[in-house]
Amino acid sequence: MDPLRRLISVLFPTSSSSSSSSLILLLSLLFCAASATAADFDIEPITFDEAYSPLFGDANLIRSDDDRSVRLLLDRYSGSGFISSNLYKYGFFTAKIKLPSDYTAGIVVAFYTSNGDVFEKTHDELDIEFLGNIRGKKWRFQTNLYGNGSTSRGREERYTLWFDPTRTFHRYSILWTANNIIFYVDEVPIREIIRNDAMGGDYPAKPMALYATIWDASDWATSGGRYKVNYKYAPFVTEFKDLFLQGCPVNPLDQYPSDHCYDKLALLDAQDFSTVTAARRMAMRQFRQNYMYYSYCYDTVRYPIPPPECVILPSEKERFKDTGRLKFGGSHKRRSRRTRWRGQIPAVSESEDQSMM
Ligand SMILES: *[C@@H]1O[C@H](CO)[C@@H](O)[C@H](O)[C@H]1NC(C)=O
Repeated sequence: MDPLRRLISVLFPTSSSSSSSSLILLLSLLFCAASATAADFDIEPITFDEAYSPLFGDANLIRSDDDRSVRLLLDRYSGSGFISSNLYKYGFFTAKIKLPSDYTAGIVVAFYTSNGDVFEKTHDELDIEFLGNIRGKKWRFQTNLYGNGSTSRGREERYTLWFDPTRTFHRYSILWTANNIIFYVDEVPIREIIRNDAMGGDYPAKPMALYATIWDASDWATSGGRYKVNYKYAPFVTEFKDLFLQGCPVNPLDQYPSDHCYDKLALLDAQDFSTVTAARRMAMRQFRQNYMYYSYCYDTVRYPIPPPECVILPSEKERFKDTGRLKFGGSHKRRSRRTRWRGQIPAVSESEDQSMM
């Protein structure tokens, strides 16, 4: 079953009520039409060598013979990672990823764009970060963005998934244009940030490279650091395949990226993944309704005035407390330790993470 249909069947489990059955039917028809052509994005995967380079932990980066997939290992000596060989000003970055299984507490698998190596104080970043968990608990993940060094203003959202990401490959993507940013899981857009002037430099605007890494985040990733990486279960292996990226490669120090971007960005705009169809928008709403368990937009303790890109939906607001955490996150929550990440960001309450499962 393709992801959109699977999502629908998860979100609307079979029920005896005839009204919900007809809703299922209606939605299924709608999604059949959309998904017949959208089982996956219409892209031609590239080899590792065409666009990427090893970043660190070379001994733990294992490329397949045909160079079309790469495994990243974390063991007690090192994590590993790769990076795109170019920086891009606007682009689409995607891979099918399978995450390590079993005991993965403390592990982070990250798929993100950044220019932190070039612009130390004013870097931009777009994140998909998978957060490992203790055995039997689901992986969770977060998306986030920074622009021009806005590290004191994290914009995290956290989610679970409608499938087990350790069993099968799924496509994860970041689309970044001059007007919007979309994070995708398969062809479901899970988050869209639409640029507005009030965001100023917080909207990423300098060329970025794509990064994929696995690393030990024992002090942060699982229950605020309560569960560390246990190397008895090493090596932890994550696999990337069907790699693809598209955009305009530019020299990051070139102040005025040249005209050659015009055609490339027009091409990007014309792609399947650049359009949020009505069916995709509906899938996005349902994903967020069912799988998002933290949003900075509703965290009024942290942001008394939501950042300017936030679109406050009454149906979402209803579900979140003023901490941006779910109201119905479970009854035996414990106060979690506050940990800090990169010095500035209050950790999402991790006991809440656990109770979500
Ligand atoms: C980015 O930050 C630098 C340093 O704080 C500032 O000089 C510059 O104007 C900012 N750029 C934007 C687009 O906000």
